[in-house]
Amino acid sequence: MNAGILGTGHFVPERILTNKDLEKMVDTSDEWIRTRTGIEERRIAPDEINTSDMAYEAAKNAMEEAKVNADEIDLILVATVTGDMGFPSVATQIQERLGAFKSAAMDLSAACAGFMYGMVTAKQFIESETYKNILIVGVEKLSKITNWEDRNTCVLFGDGAGAVVMGPVSDNRGVLSFELGADGRGIPHLYQTEEDLLYMNGREVFKFAVRQMGESALNVVEKIGLTKNDVDYLIPHQANIRIMEAAREKLEIPKEKMSKKIHKYGNTSAASIPIALSEDVKSGTIKDGNLVVLVGFGGGLTWGAVAFRWGK
Ligand code: ACO
Repeated sequence: MNAGILGTGHFVPERILTNKDLEKMVDTSDEWIRTRTGIEERRIAPDEINTSDMAYEAAKNAMEEAKVNADEIDLILVATVTGDMGFPSVATQIQERLGAFKSAAMDLSAACAGFMYGMVTAKQFIESETYKNILIVGVEKLSKITNWEDRNTCVLFGDGAGAVVMGPVSDNRGVLSFELGADGRGIPHLYQTEEDLLYMNGREVFKFAVRQMGESALNVVEKIGLTKNDVDYLIPHQANIRIMEAAREKLEIPKEKMSKKIHKYGNTSAASIPIALSEDVKSGTIKDGNLVVLVGFGGGLTWGAVAFRWGK
């Protein structure tokens, strides 16, 4: 029994915050942000759109694409560090709105690597034939924990949601290998303060990410006995174009084989990979039989990568 992706979905709020807008808020420049991060603009959710609202929209979109009804969902996993509240979970909130009352539901906290952790968890339940259809959402409203006076971090983040429905697929399709990891010694580099604001030591996280993204991406390919040349498409966590480029260079693949959405959405944490995946599926960039590698890292520190062959 192979576990694969049956459908993808995403949602981003309408409001655009440009680098020029940020120039009016903190001591920064469009030029600095573009050259150091690759970000040109990001989406910011208004007060009335909360994390669960974005998660719901992305989930609905993925279920439509997968042609899976609410009563066919067995488990809902939501990767987020910015839920509407401490509890109940975003997963139970969207379960109620979707009417997916036959499903179990829980949130999962692994920061920007959360979606990878969600996919790997889903794979175990599907391959053991415990559950059939699993909805996985990566969603963040980072704007609510962003310190809008800290130029080191406020230029980086954005809001949004991405989702997939995973289920059984044919023998030569679906998730082929994965790697998950964590190193709690990295906690001081990236965490939420007592004032509920995001703190980050950018330089330390950068060094870690450049090394880890490349290594993990390569590991999942080698685990299935394939080589860099076999990779058709790479979707790295959209954190910083320079970090993404490091992963791409490690795999030695051309620029057009790497998903790049960072310029328009910034870093949306757990949502960045599933948003990119959904856009790339909808645009036809990812084709049946393609070997796709997803790789992410985040606060914890945490990381994860998944290699899958696209198609049912
Ligand atoms: N505008 C202008 N100048 C700035 C800005 C800004 N927005 N931000 C920082 N600077 C300054 C710094 O103050 C520093 O000045 P100094 O030398 O006088 O002290 C200078 O620019 C250079 O700073 P560096 O830290 O060396 O810049 P760097 O090239 O490393 O880029 C960045 C900083 C973009 C934050 C980078 O380190 C990075 O991307 N780190 C990883 C961040 C990340 O991806 N985190 C993901 C996890 S997020 C999560 O899990 C929710």
